[in-house]
Amino acid sequence: MSGALTVPALKSLLPPPVIRCNSDEAHDTLTYKGESGTWYESLEGKVARKEDFQLNQSAMIMWAPKELEEELGSCNVVLTLVKVPAEDAMAEWGIPDDGGNAMMMAYHTYKCPHLCCKPVFKNKGVSSLSGDAYENMFLCPCHLSRFDPLSIIENIDEKGRPVMVAELIEGPAPYGLPIVPLVERDGELVGTTDKLEWLKYCGLG
Ligand code: FES
Repeated sequence: MSGALTVPALKSLLPPPVIRCNSDEAHDTLTYKGESGTWYESLEGKVARKEDFQLNQSAMIMWAPKELEEELGSCNVVLTLVKVPAEDAMAEWGIPDDGGNAMMMAYHTYKCPHLCCKPVFKNKGVSSLSGDAYENMFLCPCHLSRFDPLSIIENIDEKGRPVMVAELIEGPAPYGLPIVPLVERDGELVGTTDKLEWLKYCGLG
């Protein structure tokens, strides 16, 4: 009889993968983050629906799909959900509302693609870099990169991967702010996990 180990036997010699996340707490739905003083404060923990939002209203939401730990080493991330005026380039990525005039879109505000700060959605502002007045854009507080949520384009990230983003308008970020594709399930907004590679930077993957 041969003394060679079979593949299953070899696998049993390897240490089991480290699992930190509680699988009971995983969810691919987008749930409101508790943020005091916001319009969605009372909705904390509830799953977001498009009818909750007015046009150009944003909310920070939690996303914790089970695939996240394996891909990014993180149990959950915070995204920003915004109801924006609809543009053709969003059709594949967001959820339409208001007769097709508006779109729910999710943006990866957990990490700026520059040095990993957290961009925020601003309804109005004046750029400290260019002096330009702007409305309804993402601003990174650390080095003032600004991203346009209405301009969804393809960029190439630092690892050469194509990624769909909210276009970088100004500032030192190397490319735009990645989006998370959405689907709707029984009226609830759900983030899809087939594009997790778009989120792999700043120590995530
Ligand atoms: S970390 Fe966002 S601009 Fe530098």
